[in-house]
Amino acid sequence: MAKRKKGEDKDMGKVAIYPGSFDPITYGHIDVVERALEIFDKVIIAIAENEEKRPLFSVEERLQMVKAFFKDTPKVLVDSFKGLLVDYVAKTNAIVILRGLRATSDFEYEFHMASMNRSLNTHLDTLFMMTSKDYFFVSSRTIKEVAKLGGGVEGLVPDLVVRRLKEKFKLPVTKKKQIGWDD
Ligand code: PNS
Repeated sequence: MAKRKKGEDKDMGKVAIYPGSFDPITYGHIDVVERALEIFDKVIIAIAENEEKRPLFSVEERLQMVKAFFKDTPKVLVDSFKGLLVDYVAKTNAIVILRGLRATSDFEYEFHMASMNRSLNTHLDTLFMMTSKDYFFVSSRTIKEVAKLGGGVEGLVPDLVVRRLKEKFKLPVTKKKQIGWDD
């Protein structure tokens, strides 16, 4: 009988791990997951527990938002991990690490990370997918900055994330400022 390759579990099929901070998840991330599902049987979204990055949302909050979005997509599993990504991947059936690339500016960081992961586990590859043109300017960092300053992020993140951002930043109702020569 042919030996089954890692990542080709009879129940799971081909599995990819999509790791990240997801602080918070955006439609850019979701676009990558949806396109990856055309290649893989399962995608595990793995939320990194890294307090050093001082995330806005706790791991539980991030898990809840991601799980809520994919609740009707059984091909997507959502989990969190602590420590090295390669150690987490080794505990799963994944054959590949999946990452999104928005622009060439992402490349250096991603190249270093993929190379380090490959040096830690020579069997592990990272697959990059270009984020679609509709979301290439969307990052969790800019979403938080815009939301904090009261800007609209609807359409760039799921509605639940919009609500959670508003709760987090306790946004006041803004009044129109009157500007005139008498001020
Ligand atoms: O969304 P992010 O913040 O760009 O994701 C980065 C992440 C979480 C994938 C990366 O920091 C990571 O893998 N952290 C786990 C710790 C680790 O394995 N570090 C070595 C890889 S360089």
